[in-house]
Amino acid sequence: MSQQRLKIEVAKAAVGFVEDGMTLGLGTGSTVNAFIDQLAAAGKRLDGVVSSSDETTRRLKKIGARVVDLNHTGDLELYIDGADEVDTHKRLIKGGGGAMTREKIVAGASRQFICIVDESKCVPVLGVFPLPVEVMPMARALVGRKLIGLGGQPELRDGFTTDNGNLILDVRNLDLVDPRAMEDRINRIPGVVSNGLFAHRAADRVLVASEQGVEER
Ligand code: A5P
Repeated sequence: MSQQRLKIEVAKAAVGFVEDGMTLGLGTGSTVNAFIDQLAAAGKRLDGVVSSSDETTRRLKKIGARVVDLNHTGDLELYIDGADEVDTHKRLIKGGGGAMTREKIVAGASRQFICIVDESKCVPVLGVFPLPVEVMPMARALVGRKLIGLGGQPELRDGFTTDNGNLILDVRNLDLVDPRAMEDRINRIPGVVSNGLFAHRAADRVLVASEQGVEER
């Protein structure tokens, strides 16, 4: 089965958790795009969707979904999003698409976070995927030096600006054996907007698609 087919299968499974009348939180990326297509195909009648990126908003509007402002919704029942890496404790690396700041906000406002991935994203320990860190442009060099001080090798994502007007440093080689501690340490650097570790707000459920089908891990 192709990776795209696996994304479609896990997206279909996630649609099963969506109820008519819900206000849903939604992430960003190719797996979420597959989910939006499946949502439309299933004819779900949502009350609204809180989007985590301009790209997700654009796709939601295309299927006629009502995109709503998080400031007007209160807590959300359900957040659905993909990930770049998932460990056995449902902690994640996200931000391959540079959207993790808004994703973290919407996930933080949601009672349940269902993460949808194909099996290539499952790892015993986080950190093969370079950790994305969103930084304010004037702090790029300072944050870079501090990340080197934490043992990382940061690299500026070339030609990329986030939906918030900031830059992304992709950081290799960080020791992520204790991801909660590293999430905190990076957040304490002045100029860091957020980082792609979802260790404090891990997923509640992870749906994984493989050749054998979709299962919850
Ligand atoms: C967006 O910034 C990311 O957090 C995505 O959720 C993550 O990169 C997964 O994307 P794919 O579904 O495209 O693999």
